[in-house]
Amino acid sequence: MSDTTLRKISFDAFDEANYPRPARSEFAAVVDSAMTRRSFLGGSIAFSTAAFVMGSTALTPTKALAAGRLGFSPVEANTLDTVTVPDGHSWHIVARWGDPMWSDAPAFDQDSRGTGASQERTFGDNNDGMFLYHDGARTILAVNSEYVNNIHIHGNRASGNPENADGVRKSKAGHGVNIVEIAETNGQWGIVLDSPCNRRITADTPMTITGPARGHELMMTEADPSGTTCLGTWNNCGSGRTPWGTYLACEENFNGYFSSSDPENVPSEAMTRYGIGNGDWGYAWATADERFDISKHPNEPNRAGYVVEIDPLDPTSTPKKRTALGRFKHENAEVTLAADGRVVVYLGDDERGEFLYRFVSDGVYTVGGDNSGLLESGTLYVAKFSDDLTGEWIALTPETTGMASQAEICVHTRQAASAVGATTMDRPEWVAVNPTSIEAYCALTNNANRGVKPNAGGDATPVGGPNPREANNYGQIVRWVPDGGDHAATGFAWDLFVLCGNPAVHGDADAGSANVNAGNMFNSPDGIAFDRNGLLWIQTDGNYSNVGDFAGQGNNQMLVGDPSTGEIQRFLVGPRECEVTGIDFSADRRTLFVGIQHPGEEGGSHFPDGGLSVPRSSVIAITRDDEGIIG
Ligand code: FEO
Ligand code: CA
Ligand code: CA
Repeated sequence: MSDTTLRKISFDAFDEANYPRPARSEFAAVVDSAMTRRSFLGGSIAFSTAAFVMGSTALTPTKALAAGRLGFSPVEANTLDTVTVPDGHSWHIVARWGDPMWSDAPAFDQDSRGTGASQERTFGDNNDGMFLYHDGARTILAVNSEYVNNIHIHGNRASGNPENADGVRKSKAGHGVNIVEIAETNGQWGIVLDSPCNRRITADTPMTITGPARGHELMMTEADPSGTTCLGTWNNCGSGRTPWGTYLACEENFNGYFSSSDPENVPSEAMTRYGIGNGDWGYAWATADERFDISKHPNEPNRAGYVVEIDPLDPTSTPKKRTALGRFKHENAEVTLAADGRVVVYLGDDERGEFLYRFVSDGVYTVGGDNSGLLESGTLYVAKFSDDLTGEWIALTPETTGMASQAEICVHTRQAASAVGATTMDRPEWVAVNPTSIEAYCALTNNANRGVKPNAGGDATPVGGPNPREANNYGQIVRWVPDGGDHAATGFAWDLFVLCGNPAVHGDADAGSANVNAGNMFNSPDGIAFDRNGLLWIQTDGNYSNVGDFAGQGNNQMLVGDPSTGEIQRFLVGPRECEVTGIDFSADRRTLFVGIQHPGEEGGSHFPDGGLSVPRSSVIAITRDDEGIIG
């Protein structure tokens, strides 16, 4: 099956096709909590007077902020095959899929789309989460390459698939992480060829396994009987940045690369919970690399699905898989500190009806100290939301889950979370922590199965709490304030910052919350990040058909929201068939870096080079024409 088809049906829909779930008619929607547009946020009058939400004093802003903090003219929705930014702003390309990182690499070949060898020396496909680092005067970009678009990277093949070992090598090298020095010359940022900082991390790079699952029998394979080392990282979606300067690459849909050469192989229940089956998603890696064959190496999938910690300033360092942060379809890893200095990492599992997690380290962060072991040991929690706008974090331990060991919990994390009755969520994507106030936000992108089908573990997905709409097409952003102003607290208060929708088409809950209107509407929030002023940047990965339920919403986009007022404005519209994902700011905050992922995933774009060129995922830089500060 081609990637195009995959993207049309979404990744988790593919897993569901492998493992169909029963429609559960007993999931009668809880009508009272399905919340009409009017009752949900109390209507626009209540919105303006009650500071947005449903009576939670904890979430009511305590300080008056100047109106109009969003200092740009909003962009209208469109379906153009380019990037649109506000008047007074400009953008340019920083790096594209296939751009050389070393001078011995060839320029991108429009016909062959490269080889295995060239892809290992060039910028990977599908750039996603990213952060900038600084080493003296050098600016170093660490950015994930989540996956490859088969129809484009293998566009030299009639089948649009990898047809031989070199095709698989190219595919594996198109994945992973790019560590690349960038520099600004005459106002244009670009790759510094041959920088000693440049590094490609791919699906074949040696890694160390750390944390509770290190050395456990579930991690042992024929190639690694000690269960302590593994090869590569892939499907790295969002990312994280630690206070001690490392980069966290999050392994998301890791399952879609495994397959079985034995059609009679029966995947275990532990595999089916993660969507691992006899068929892969079209990557065909097992045809050239036996470790992806689950009939031969059934423990290999246990060594993927983690957060990987990378030192972006040391090209010789070995990346570390942090099993303490759990194994699931990791979206991003938002790092903050508890009141006592312990490290708190918020983590989403992006699949329909899966969970929201939090890790709290055992050790305390010390400025300039040795923080290299902080993500090796701690407590993993999962969120349980109540309809009364409160919630709690439930520790995942042998005592609470009934599982044999912490190692097992760190490998079979979904099963552990199901065992404690965590809240099934509408696909948790990025979490973002506000630097100006103690609160966190999570994008819940959409969930066609809400109130319709259970999750992959059979857990019910009733309508309610922060997941208030049946068959949720549009998504929402939930936020929470931890009790006592401490991100390590057990309890929290929550509300919804925005319920996305289309008020031009719907008059009910699908119109969205009162801060959504025909001029700023969007669907499927995914990447979210705060700038230093406490404004929330929202990136979308949604339906770009611009018809029906999505009429008037145009291409995927990026918006800015003000947490204190609820105001949201559109800042950017991406090219056709793209997703907007990945964001960071230059040190002087005069350049905003944004990721444009999979333009033309269905063949309908030639971004960024135009004409009849192959569409290429890109990192772009946005500046103000007056050279002022952005974000
Ligand atoms: Fe790779 Fe959930 O986005
Ligand atoms: Ca995402
Ligand atoms: Ca998404």
